[in-house]
Amino acid sequence: MQTVLKELPPITDPNVLVGINSGDDCAVYQIADGLAIIQTVDYFTPIVDDPYDYGAIAVANALSDVYAMGAKPLIALNVVGFHSRGLPLEILIRMMKGGGDKAREAGVSIIGGHTIDDKEPKYGLSVTGIIDPADIVYNSTAQVGDVLFLTKPLGVGILTTGIKRRTVSKAAIARGVEVMATLNRDASLAMIEVGINACTDITGYGLLGHLGEMTQGSGVGARIHARAVPVMQASRDLIDADLDAVPSGSKNNLKFVSSFVNFDPGITEAERLMLADAQTSGGLLISCPAKKADGLEAALKDAGTIIAARIGTMEAEDDTGRIDVVP
Ligand code: CO
Ligand code: CO
Repeated sequence: MQTVLKELPPITDPNVLVGINSGDDCAVYQIADGLAIIQTVDYFTPIVDDPYDYGAIAVANALSDVYAMGAKPLIALNVVGFHSRGLPLEILIRMMKGGGDKAREAGVSIIGGHTIDDKEPKYGLSVTGIIDPADIVYNSTAQVGDVLFLTKPLGVGILTTGIKRRTVSKAAIARGVEVMATLNRDASLAMIEVGINACTDITGYGLLGHLGEMTQGSGVGARIHARAVPVMQASRDLIDADLDAVPSGSKNNLKFVSSFVNFDPGITEAERLMLADAQTSGGLLISCPAKKADGLEAALKDAGTIIAARIGTMEAEDDTGRIDVVP
C-alpha cells in the first residue's frame, strides 16, 4: 500500500499529525490546542451469512482503528454497496440495523452515508473522532522490555473461510460472530487508564504482520510465545484437520512475514499459519511497560475483554524489527 500512497502529493500542512507516511491506524488532524480530529474508513464484503451480524461486525471493525489509537469515535457515515435489483431490500435493512445497533452501543451517531449499486454487497463506515494530541497512542513507540498483550483470540480468517465452505458448526459461527462484533472500546479505555507505550489492532495482515509494523516502526525486536497466543478452538480444529482450511490471504501473509520472522523449528506449519491468519475486527495488540503489566491485565479483566493474554515481549533494539517465535 505504501508504494501506491507515495503517488499522492506530499503533505505540507503542519496540522496533519498522522498522515500517510506512517503505518498508524488512523489519520489525525489538529484543529485547536489540545484537540485533534481522527479519521478512518473501512468496509468489506460479507463474511457471515446473517446480514444483521455482518452489519454489526463491519461497524465494530471500522471503529477499531480509532480505539487502537486511544481516541473517542463520535460520528460516522455509512459506506454501502448493494445490488438493489438483485437482492431483497430486507437484507440491506438488516445490515443497516446490525450496524446501527453496534454504533449506538459505541455511542457513535451515524449521520449520513452513500450507497452505490454493486453486485457484491459491501458495508463499513467512515469514522470521525477526537483526541488530545498529547494522548495519541502510536504503533511505533514500543520500548525494549515491554510486555505484549492481545485482547481477542486469533482464527477468524480460517473460521470465516470454513463458514463459506459450510464446514463449521452453528455454535462455532456464533462464537466467531461474538468475537468479531465485540467492540475494542473497553480494551482501549483500559489501556488509556493504565498508560501504555504502543498499540495497534489485528486485522488483515494477521498478528505477525501487524506486530512487524510495530517492531519495525519502533526499532525493537520481539519474542512471541506461540502457545501463549489464544486461538478459537473451531479454527484450530479446522487447521489441524486440513492445512488448506487456511484462506489464501493468510498464506500470503505468512510468506510476507517470513523476511522478518524467525520461527523456532518446533513451531508447526499450522501454528505459523495461525499466527499469520488475516483477522476481521481482531483484538488490540498492546505494548505495555513491564512494571505496568499486572495493572493492565487487571484493567482488561475488569473491562471484560474477551481475553487479556500476555503473548510475548519486546526485546533488544533492532532496526529490522525481527520477531522470534518460540513454543
Ligand atoms: Co488497524
Ligand atoms: Co483499517
